Amino acid sequence: MSTISPSLMESVSHENRKFAPPAVFSSAARVNGMEAYRALYERSIADPEAFWAEAASELHWFQPWECVLDSSEAPFFKWFRGSRTNLSYNCLDRHIEEGRGDKVAIHWEGEPGDTLDLSYSDLHREVCRCANVLKKLGVKKGDRIAIYLPMIPELAISVLACARIGAVHSVIFAGFSADSIRDRVLDSEARMVITGDGGYRRGKMLELKKIVDEGVASCDCISDVLVVRRGESHPVDCPMQEGRDHWYHELIGQVDDICPAEEMDAEDLLFLLYTSGTTGKPKGIMHTTAGYQVFSYLTSKYVFDLQPDDVYWCTADVGWITGHTYIVYGILQNGVTQVMYEGAPNHPDEGRFWDIIEKHKVTIFYTAPTAIRAFMKWGDQWVEKHDLSTLRLLGTVGEPINPEAWMWYHKKIGSEKCPIVDTWWQTETGGHMLTPMPGATPTKPGCATLPFFGIEPVILTEEGDEVDAGILAIKKPWPGMLRGIYGDPQRFKDTYWCKWGGKYYFPGDGARRDEDGYIWILGRVDDVVNVSGHRIGTAELESVFVEHKDVAESAVIGIPHEIKGQGLVAFVTVIDGCAQDEHLRKELVAMIDKGIGKFARPERIVFSSDLPKTRSGKIMRRLLRDIAEGRELGNTTTLADPSVVEHLQSQFQDET
Ligand code: WTA
Repeated sequence: MSTISPSLMESVSHENRKFAPPAVFSSAARVNGMEAYRALYERSIADPEAFWAEAASELHWFQPWECVLDSSEAPFFKWFRGSRTNLSYNCLDRHIEEGRGDKVAIHWEGEPGDTLDLSYSDLHREVCRCANVLKKLGVKKGDRIAIYLPMIPELAISVLACARIGAVHSVIFAGFSADSIRDRVLDSEARMVITGDGGYRRGKMLELKKIVDEGVASCDCISDVLVVRRGESHPVDCPMQEGRDHWYHELIGQVDDICPAEEMDAEDLLFLLYTSGTTGKPKGIMHTTAGYQVFSYLTSKYVFDLQPDDVYWCTADVGWITGHTYIVYGILQNGVTQVMYEGAPNHPDEGRFWDIIEKHKVTIFYTAPTAIRAFMKWGDQWVEKHDLSTLRLLGTVGEPINPEAWMWYHKKIGSEKCPIVDTWWQTETGGHMLTPMPGATPTKPGCATLPFFGIEPVILTEEGDEVDAGILAIKKPWPGMLRGIYGDPQRFKDTYWCKWGGKYYFPGDGARRDEDGYIWILGRVDDVVNVSGHRIGTAELESVFVEHKDVAESAVIGIPHEIKGQGLVAFVTVIDGCAQDEHLRKELVAMIDKGIGKFARPERIVFSSDLPKTRSGKIMRRLLRDIAEGRELGNTTTLADPSVVEHLQSQFQDET
């Protein structure tokens, strides 16, 4: 267990600016002031079952629940027990039945400039056809389907098609390597991969199918690979394996466009999403049907204050939880219009995002702090060329936002008239946990502020005593919570519920409560690093490095990074007599590209003759962080050999 990041603590501890929501925003908002927020919050805590039942009643159910929350097998909580429902039905059919079929669901923008508008009826038809293709290929309820696609409409379509027939999707972000695909496919025993021949990224075509071929070469569980053609005008080398591989566009033409939605049990598995933890093996986070449905719906509705004429845009990739909840499920259940963009923010130039906002008259914009810091660096001129006056609400997610970036976002993008919702949550929580209510909560730069309805955060010591600065914990279950780690119920209990004897959920973040009761997130307290909002376990890199024959040991840590939020530094000890040179460095980087993906490349690889260890042999990462951040070393009295850190320190400085 590491300590809270001193640099983050420092950057936010003096921040005391406060911004009330603009009156014009509040007057029309769903939650129009702190009194309204508090009243609803108190109701949600006093009688959570009544609160969540009321929210659920806004959605469609084939069969109502017998019981809202069943805690009899805690921490395996069950929500809306006995009900039957379908997420794809609530995202699509419900809107068509209620007369919103012609409304645009998705304005899609391809990176090269091609576009497609899909109404709710169009999306419904495409989802039904895709679902029928899956059925034709023998997919049954409960089968796991891996999806490795770029941000094209077929990504949302195939996710919803799985939900429609009760297949469990496992979306793998299209930046992951072949080895990562293999590990996820094997762990979930997926029977199919849906991929594309390629996908555009900064003008180049990524050859996705080739990566999939390599990834699933040794996966006997895979019987079919369904391939969407993205490279129509940019042919991609895409060898098709007879009997296993199928072109999506060919099969889609052979099926019916009606596919009834399967009646799913409340706790039927909806999806798996692999995320990083403290060990080398990513965890298959399990989300089930009814609870996630209600939580994604309600958080979207309130946190984005969704109104019928909004045009919403979330820049995340559907490969991460943000895209699952706040592109697909939460947003579509609310029946609003959204923008979906395939590519990079700086293609063809650094004004692309602002161009999209102007073109589609976007009203709500949700992005990551790392992107905001990149925009700041590129310069205000890219923003100033565009009319962003339609924006009324801004959001951030994925990592702590530094006050400077928050202020820039507020002034340059929001023209000081848009509230900013800094939303803290996780793959595991399914949806927003701490966030301002945009029409109510006065915001502070860099602060996630207060809990969403039904969420009870506390800040604890390791021993479980309440404090003002310490480890964040969540009291009581909530509907969007993860239901387990696929195939490993014990790891689920150990990771999230054991820390304080099963009394609280342990998210892994440090936090501080200020004089207004606002909660400031201070970064992870475990060995998880947030690089550009991508969650990476340091142990994942370490286990890749030690596979190299010349490497004896390695320790990877996170350090502050101007744009990425955090970057990775790897300390690698090499077996005696082996060369510690550029060649080895290159080989190690190539191993990370192959083992995880390019986005996990370390900023720096430092070779060292030894690592600082306690007498019992445990690596003291805290000292490595002190070295990497140029701080005075903390307590070194427990070190087996104090000279190791002195040596490392001077070596680190010499190489800088
Ligand atoms: C971090 C992303 C500070 C946090 C939705 C959390 C944040 C991890 C914020 C989850 C925020 C996310 N402020 N930190 N607004 N949002 N985090 O699972 O450390 O990819 O535990 O989910 O991101 O990352 P994940």
